[in-house]
Amino acid sequence: MSSGKFDFAPLLPAGLPAPAAKWTGLAKYSFVGGNNDPEHVPVEGLIEAVNAVLRREGKTLATYGVASGPQGYRPLREFLTRKLQRDAGIECSADDILIVSGSLQALDLVNATLLARGDTVIIERDSYQGSLNRLTRLGVNMVGIPLDDNGMRIDALSGALADLKQRGITPKYIYTIPTVQNPTGTILPETRRKELVKLSQQYGVPIFEDDCYADLIWDGRRPPAIYAMSQNGGVIHIGSFSKSIAPALRVGFIVAPWEILSRMLALKTDAGSGALEQMVLAEYCTPHFDEHVPKLTRALRAKLDTMMEALNEHFGTTAEFDDPKGGIFLWVKLPDNVDTLRLYQLALAAGVAINPGPEWSTDKRYAGSRLRLCFASPSHDKIREGIAVLAEVCRKEFGVPARIANVEKRARTSS
Ligand SMILES: Cc1ncc(COP(=O)(O)O)c(C=O)c1O
Repeated sequence: MSSGKFDFAPLLPAGLPAPAAKWTGLAKYSFVGGNNDPEHVPVEGLIEAVNAVLRREGKTLATYGVASGPQGYRPLREFLTRKLQRDAGIECSADDILIVSGSLQALDLVNATLLARGDTVIIERDSYQGSLNRLTRLGVNMVGIPLDDNGMRIDALSGALADLKQRGITPKYIYTIPTVQNPTGTILPETRRKELVKLSQQYGVPIFEDDCYADLIWDGRRPPAIYAMSQNGGVIHIGSFSKSIAPALRVGFIVAPWEILSRMLALKTDAGSGALEQMVLAEYCTPHFDEHVPKLTRALRAKLDTMMEALNEHFGTTAEFDDPKGGIFLWVKLPDNVDTLRLYQLALAAGVAINPGPEWSTDKRYAGSRLRLCFASPSHDKIREGIAVLAEVCRKEFGVPARIANVEKRARTSS
């Protein structure tokens, strides 16, 4: 019998991802991740909802899938059918919806259903890190399509599809975050959505529509979902309660024709997502969602204003950004000499966490001097303080911004 600690290493199969890092807490100034505004989690409403639904239906927790079967708590799916019809123009029934453990699980199920190593997908050049990392890990080739201030450029998409066709490659899907894009904050207008659907039909490539920020639009107006515009059923639509209510609940959903939804359901082998969260959401959202969301978006818009003001004050013209149409992120361009992967490390050491651009793009060079900042989670004061610290770190290392808060600074000299 050998003594000492058991060694798992020889048992690990090839191809596992690198081990996860231990969590060491949030940075003092945390502008990373998709965290939401803690002041706008509707805590009181959720408490009332949990009490009411448990009193009424708590005993159904004795059964896997409560009394609703494997696609998720039926009243939540019914709430979604009404909401999706009204807001996004999607005509679907509760049977077309699969509730999942956050839309991250939706990404995994769609990918597991459609992708094999060596496949090609089309994706917006700047996109969600969670999607990019999954595709990299699956050994899938990504063709990045540039965006402008109206989202994915359809002329570039058309060129890419034609080019791939010429090379005998049919991409497995076109992945898009059309309604408040992550990280750029753009909204794909209706005309572009129509063109996108046309191209998808012309080339026989389905569209994977990730709509998780669609509730967080400043003026509350959104174009119809791409899912609603397609005539041929070639769109998979996913959404989430993470951004409108709270990410820690881990409740998302997939809307898709049964032919493909049934394949995803067969791959969802966890015996259903947490029922209590689904029950509480249905109970809370059915009467309160519509009054909650405008309060949340007003608060988010105010934080965005604070962040843009702080960037203007501390970075001046050094930091370039467009005013996003909604959401929780600002996508910022710094001068070309700023390497945001390096800035990320130095800023973290000074207590400021940022998302470096290369992790959010298929084009690492293009994104090399860009960064993504989440403004939803920190307080207004933390936003102001954190951006001031970030500017100071950036100036010391890269010599920009040369002026901070209107005071001229000398770039770092090597001494
Ligand atoms: C575009 C996009 N899709 C999916 C997700 C996953 O969200 P969740 O699993 O919390 O629903 C996120 C999270 O930030 C996201 O930005």
